[in-house]
Amino acid sequence: MNIAVEKVTSSKINEVDFDNLAFGSVFSDHMLECTYKNGAWETPKIVPYQPITLDPSSKIFHYGQSIFEGMKAYKDKDGGVWLFRPLENQKRLNISAKRMAIPELPEEYFMEGLTSLLQVDKNWIPENDGSSLYIRPFMFASGNGFHASPADEYKFIIATAPSGAYFSGKVRVLIEEKYSRSANGGVGFAKAGGNYAGQFYPTQLAKAKGYQQVIWTDDNTHEYIEEAGAMNIFVRINDTLITGPTSDRILDGITRKSILDIAADEGIKAEVRKISVAEVVAAAKSGELKEMFGAGTAAVVSPISGFGHQGTDYDLPELENSYAMQLKKRITDIQYNRAEDKFGWRY
Ligand code: COI
Repeated sequence: MNIAVEKVTSSKINEVDFDNLAFGSVFSDHMLECTYKNGAWETPKIVPYQPITLDPSSKIFHYGQSIFEGMKAYKDKDGGVWLFRPLENQKRLNISAKRMAIPELPEEYFMEGLTSLLQVDKNWIPENDGSSLYIRPFMFASGNGFHASPADEYKFIIATAPSGAYFSGKVRVLIEEKYSRSANGGVGFAKAGGNYAGQFYPTQLAKAKGYQQVIWTDDNTHEYIEEAGAMNIFVRINDTLITGPTSDRILDGITRKSILDIAADEGIKAEVRKISVAEVVAAAKSGELKEMFGAGTAAVVSPISGFGHQGTDYDLPELENSYAMQLKKRITDIQYNRAEDKFGWRY
């Protein structure tokens, strides 16, 4: 594929403080852009990172036909650049696309587009431990018209942002029993933009009560915990790690499934099954609840310091040998090419 490259006339890279990177707030010089028109995806091109001009009737504004992925590029100590299971993101983008009636993108457009973009902006990949180039592939309806039906034109863009940690420390969470993130038959398994927008208001309410994130429970009974904010959730009761099964309502997280494979490899007993709020509360009361953490690309593994439930706060113990830290080290060692990758995940 011949990907045309239009380079910036002057790079912004010297304006960036790579030692003090926030998450996703400064953007590299270039982006990949690909247009769907007349029934086909056109060849992607690399252009300077820039605003997008859209008609006010573009369907993205009215009907929210919009999906995204989250990935990272890591630089090792010898300057080698690595991706982590990128084909999983490519496949999931198309799973999300199908659910949102967006035309699927051929695999080579995604992979060749991404690798070409990273070659052009290679210098933007941070070298500091814990920092990486956050990669945001996204697709949206750029076609026009107020008719509530799928658009006839779409954009696929990959923008990248040199980034530090997503959270600065442990988070306190509130078990949510009124609002829902997703429903059976809905779009919870897709990385649809609206899934995240719908979380903002309940999360604002939780923040006003002193929590940073919400633990989502099932929409039907609110009896089972499902996700942690924008991440999958893991709970450790005694020595067993538990996460809920993926479903219509739960995102098939790449970090989640990698953690399950690593846990098996490290001899950590892990179960994929429904976890009830009652079980978590009872385990917290008896002292058997050892850890809870979120897992996702952006935050990797995000330890939870405690949770609120029906007006009571529960604190989690400080552990010296936490599964969260053990699993985080193993996965980041693979991602940054610091350790053997027996799973073949590095790319
Ligand atoms: C990620 O972990 O990459 C996500 O997609 C979460 C995002 C909302 C920051």
